[in-house]
Amino acid sequence: MPRLSDLTDAESLALLAWQVAAGADEAALDQPVDRTRPPPAAAVPAPPASRPALAAVARSPGSAPPRPVPAAPPALIAQDAKALAAGCRTVAELEQAVRLYDGCGLKKTATNTVFADGDPKAKLMLVGEAPGADEDRQGKPFVGLSGKLLDRMLQAIGRERGSVYITNILFWRPPGNRQPTPQEIQQCLPFAIRHIELVGPSVLVLLGGTSAKTILNQTEGIMRLRGRWFEYKIGENLPVIPTIATYHPAYLLRSPGQKREAWRDFLALKLRLSNAL
Ligand code: URA
Repeated sequence: MPRLSDLTDAESLALLAWQVAAGADEAALDQPVDRTRPPPAAAVPAPPASRPALAAVARSPGSAPPRPVPAAPPALIAQDAKALAAGCRTVAELEQAVRLYDGCGLKKTATNTVFADGDPKAKLMLVGEAPGADEDRQGKPFVGLSGKLLDRMLQAIGRERGSVYITNILFWRPPGNRQPTPQEIQQCLPFAIRHIELVGPSVLVLLGGTSAKTILNQTEGIMRLRGRWFEYKIGENLPVIPTIATYHPAYLLRSPGQKREAWRDFLALKLRLSNAL
């Protein structure tokens, strides 16, 4: 196998491009590691020591060496999103439940859990798709370039970020900002639904196709869903929430020609908010 140091500049660039395409777009260490070289002898990992705090030790009769037995998973490692979410009575409890939830693989590769930002008592709640690199780093939704555009769109209808409530369907960044899989979406959805129930906004905005299709349970794409008002039902005998879908700000950054349609949606939103309780 060629060593990294043997590669030409063009080959190095091609390798880098391949890594970025595969989602490895952030440095994990300060110094690069050349994994094509054998590790130095001292760096060969020693066999793992048993961890008495987590593992019990079983002895079978007649066999001398102790055999580590995995400890029962702590009760906090919860897998059942539906039951966990249903048991939460406040937004703070829900945040804690999401942070403890280990049923979505995205958590393993993410740096932070990104729960929400803004005022949980706000009239206006916005739900995006999933954190990106900036959000993953800072632990807050919509703080990167698309977040800056969202802030400006909100300001244009007289709302500051601190006076609205912003979250995502997924609480962890998909590696390389890839599309979340249907399975990952389903793993987080009970929390997202409970989140909306607990906040109980007067108006709900769904940013982008993933959020709109998932929350509204629709198969149509965002081109058809945007700009229409839906009635989001959170439960029997509870008021429905007027809900509008619009383009995701990241899409607007890529397709500025569509800002005009999004502006229309935000004007409709402004009007609805002025009539909301
Ligand atoms: N895109 C989203 O959908 N959510 C964020 O928080 C950031 C980018």
